[in-house]
This record gives sequence, C-alpha cells and structure tokens, in this order.
Amino acid sequence: MMRTHTCGELRADHLGKDVQLAGWIRFSRDHGGVLFFDLADAYGTTQVVFDPEAMSEKDDRESLERMLKSFGRESVISVAGKVRNRVPGTEDARNPTGQLEVLIERASLLNSSPPLPFEVADQKGSLLPSEDLRLRYRFLDLRRTQMANNLRFRHRLVAAARRALDAEDFVEVETPMLCRQTPEGARDFIVPSRIFPGTFYALPQSPQLYKQMLMVGGLDKYYQVARCFRDEDSRSDRQPEFTQLDVEMSFVEETDVQALTERVLASVWRSVYGKELVTPFPRITFYDAMHSYGTDAPDIRYDLRLQDVTDTVKAASYEIFQRVISKGGRVECMNVKAELMATTSNDETAVGRNEVDRLIEWAKGQGMGGLTWMRMTKDGLQSNIVKYFPREVTQALEAKMGAEEGDLLLFLAGSEIAALKAGGELRRKLAKDLHLLEGKDHQFVWLVGCPMFQKDSVSGQLEAFHHAFVKPVGGDIQEGEDVMCACGMSYDLVLDGSEIGSGSVRCHDPEVQRKVFKLLGMSDEKIEADFGYFLEALGYGAPPHGGIALGIDRLTAILLGCETIREVIAFPKNKKFQCLMDGSPAKVDEAKLSELQLLCLAGDEDTEE
Ligand code: AMO
Repeated sequence: MMRTHTCGELRADHLGKDVQLAGWIRFSRDHGGVLFFDLADAYGTTQVVFDPEAMSEKDDRESLERMLKSFGRESVISVAGKVRNRVPGTEDARNPTGQLEVLIERASLLNSSPPLPFEVADQKGSLLPSEDLRLRYRFLDLRRTQMANNLRFRHRLVAAARRALDAEDFVEVETPMLCRQTPEGARDFIVPSRIFPGTFYALPQSPQLYKQMLMVGGLDKYYQVARCFRDEDSRSDRQPEFTQLDVEMSFVEETDVQALTERVLASVWRSVYGKELVTPFPRITFYDAMHSYGTDAPDIRYDLRLQDVTDTVKAASYEIFQRVISKGGRVECMNVKAELMATTSNDETAVGRNEVDRLIEWAKGQGMGGLTWMRMTKDGLQSNIVKYFPREVTQALEAKMGAEEGDLLLFLAGSEIAALKAGGELRRKLAKDLHLLEGKDHQFVWLVGCPMFQKDSVSGQLEAFHHAFVKPVGGDIQEGEDVMCACGMSYDLVLDGSEIGSGSVRCHDPEVQRKVFKLLGMSDEKIEADFGYFLEALGYGAPPHGGIALGIDRLTAILLGCETIREVIAFPKNKKFQCLMDGSPAKVDEAKLSELQLLCLAGDEDTEE
C-alpha cells in the first residue's frame, strides 16, 4: 500500500492515528533542525514534519534526516507517521488539513525532480511565468491548484450536462473524425489517405452533417461531447481543436431546442453552483442587438444602449456630423448616466475632461474620426461644440436620450456598420473602465431573428450567416424574394457578451436545401459532388429536426472568469497554434511523405517564424 489517506483527507478525528501519505514536495523549510514539508497531491496539501527530538534511535534519526534533506521540490515521496495537532498559533485556517500535521517516522523517495523551470506552489503574490513556458511544461503547470481546479470544474460541468441529457433520453453517439469536409465557414485540417494516394479526409469542423444523418436514421435525440477542428486565426476564445456539447433533435421547433438547452444549463447550475438559473433566458433580435448594443453578442448586464440620433442632429451645423450624414452615414449616441460614473468615485464627473479626451483618442484607434461629447447641466447640454447645435436640436437630444443633470452623451458618427461597431466597443470599454460588471451575475440571452445570408465584405459573394443547413423562416425561399431580407430559423446563445452556442432548425426538405446551396453560389456539379449523399438522405423521409452546439471551452472559461480558453483546456495550442510540449506541428519523415505521395513537401523551405 502506498498511502492510507490522500493529502487532503486528514481531519481532527484522525488525531493519533498512524497514516501513510504520498505526494509531491511542494514546499520545504528548516526551522532550527525541524524540517517541514508541504506534501501535495490532487486532493490537497498536508504538512509533514521531521522533528529530531521525537526520534529515539540516533542512527535512524540521522539517516532519515539526511534523506529528507536531499529531497528537492516536486520530488515524489511517501511518508509514514502519526497525526498530531500543529503547534498552537501555527494552524492554517484556509487549508482543510491545516489544524494537523504528520510527524514523520519513515520516508521513501518514489521519484526525484530536477530544478523546476517555474514555481509550482501557489505562493502569495507569486507571478505566473509566461504562458509559453507554462505550456512547454504543461505537466507541471497542471499541478498548480488553479489549473487543477479549472479541469475539475470543467469535468463537473460536462458530467452534469451529460446526466441532464441522459435523463431526457438523449443518446451519445460518436461520429467520425475522418470525414469529408463539413463546410462551417473555416478552413479544414486535411488528412492524406495512404491507401488512396492523392485523396484526403478532412477533420470535422463540427459533427453537423452526421448529426443530421442520425436524425434521418431515426435516432430522435442525439448528443455528443464532440471534438471539432478548424484551421482558423488565433484568438483568445478560439483553438484549432475545441469541444462542443453537440445536440440534435427530431420533430422540434426553435423553442423546443432553446427550452432543452435551458433545462440542461439549469441542471448544470444546480449541480455546479447549487443555485437555480433563471429561465427562460431573454431573447433579443439580431436587429435590436446590433442597433442597441452594436454587436450580435450583446452583454445585457449593463445598459449603455446606442440610439440612432441622425435625424435629430441633422439640423445642426456641426461639420463632422454634416459630412457623415451627407454620405449616407449615421450618428449613434450613448447616454452615460451620472450615477454610473459616480460609482468610480464620489466625484460626480468621474469621466472628466481628461477621460473624455482619452476616449476621443481611443475612438480614433477604433478607426473613427473621433468622438463627440456633450454633458447635461442645469442649463441644458453643454460642450465645446454645442454652439453648432440650435437649442431645438439640443432639446430634442435631451428628450430622446433622457438626459439628466450630470449625464454624459457620447456620439459616434460614421457609416452604419462602423458607428455601430465602434459603439459596441465603446460599451465594452466603458463597462470595464467604470467597473460596471462588478458583482454582476452571469446573464444568458438568446439572439434570434438572424438573417439567412450575408455578403462577404471583400468579394460581395453571398455567404451563409450561420451555415448552409439553416431552414428559412416560412420553410422556403420564394421566387423573387430579396434573399438579404430572408431570416433563418437559427439562434445563438450569448453569455456575458460572448457567443457560447449556436443552432437552428434545419432544411429537412432536400429541395429547399438544394436551393440554399445554389444561392450560396454552388454549381449543380459541386452540390452533387459534395452533398449528393446528404441530399439523397434527406429525400428518404428526413424528419423535421434541429439542434444546437455549445462551446464547452468558452462556457467554462467565462464561468471561471478566465481571460482565454487555453486556461480550461488541458493541452491547448499556444497563441501561434503550436503545442510547445510535444513540438507539433512537426516535420515528418520523408519515408512517410513518400508513402503518402506528398514527398514534394519534404524539400520545401521551413517557413516558420
Ligand atoms: P458554430 O460554428 O457556431 O456552430 O459553433 C458552435 C460553438 O462552438 C464554439 N466554437 C469554438 N470554440 C473554440 N474555438 C473555436 N475555434 C470555436 N469555433 C466555435 C462557440 C460556438 O458558439 N454545427 C454548428 C452548430 C449547430 O448548428 O448545431 C456549429 O458548429 O462557442
């Protein structure tokens, strides 16, 4: 037996017992010959002590002391001894084992460790090493309490979701990793076939087509904790491989999938936080989200809404607004209420002139010409440019924006998309600067009423707003209909201003699906080659169906307050999408490439860095 107890287990009722513990030496100190070790394992930390005066046999004492002194940090040891109370005044109330210690009688080294590249012990004020160093030695980084807690939280979340889905009769089905491309908008990772040289599998961007096929196959309720692979650009909330809680159901409408999602999350909340989650979640249309919050993933925990004041200010002779409006642009306004600014200090003008100047510089950095401001006083709106605004205009602005004394009106002028986007960023910045999120609970919101299509900003080519399998509202796209006005039966789930999930009711009629493919610019030949099997399957009595996929990495990271999803993934890629621990991506042997008939790549220059 290597241990009788874990390092997190001992309590007062173990006092006087002989125990054996095993773990890592996280920390050691020598207090006048008495040696203290923090012995840690996955369950906690227990103080183990060598006290020379407590040992009667001189030889035993000396050899044990020599051995213990030779153990370095993160050595793996096993110790046996008696549980006793710590010396009064040295207890550690933050540690559940902190009242006790084990007086070492025997010890053995199970494995040693060389000097560490960084400190594993969580010490007060200790700074984390660089992320790349942590990822290079992820096996050590994972020993840190924070990382261990993150993985355990993620496990509890996924386990609770699985239990909830199981209770609703969902069946977990594994779908292939080697497949034909599923077009989800990103690039695919390609896997060459040895048996059929010159042909390739793709790693799935999501199980989208397979889960739809499962519905055609009559499964009715599917889910999967599914790995997905996308060769897209790096961002703090993106990894090239990530995990979705992927769900599909037959004979459903949008609200059925949304209600199921809410039940699953409510169950997760109960299990993880012991709290009831308020459902149903509020819903906001894509149009309202864009126009009030300047984003399709609005954070509705704070107000700071945008309002289009183009019509109100067009009578002003203020040149900047005139120029933008004459080009068909618009002016967006946000009212920063006096009480929001007062939260940062007792001074009611916490966003003073200097801060406004900084905001103007910030807006320039966002690609705007700048930012215009007015402050509400006893005598109405005041600002350095108010002279260009006739009194009727400022009065109309005051009324429209509900301006009260001390409020600050901020204006962004530009093209519709630029003004709204900058407005969305401005909301985010003010929420941070004014600490508006402190003490706020998490808040989900459904984004509904999204368009079916959008145009690529560069090529102008029509592309799917979500993906190509969304059913149009009304079931079909009519001849002559303006497709840019067509809405899809799709929905996004947004948490605290980040999209954490997305889903839709699907085209189950093969002819509607074919029409959507064609509108997306695919030729009959391409449709046949890429989706022939899929359309064929839909034709064999596909039931109406729909589903959703929640990004588990994003959900976990938001709930844990992590800056990036890398903090909740055991072995993530770094910012450049490399694995610093195993050195991937890496070159492969020429023989391997030759076997795959990819030899020409072997001689290519190394293009890294
Ligand atoms: P979508 O592409 O919107 O939908 O993805 C669903 C959710 O997956 C997460 N996600 C990511 N997480 C980390 N890294 C990435 N690179 C990444 N890309 C996406 C997000 C996102 O909301 N098949 C559809 C779902 C459906 O229609 O049922 C799909 O994959 O949280």
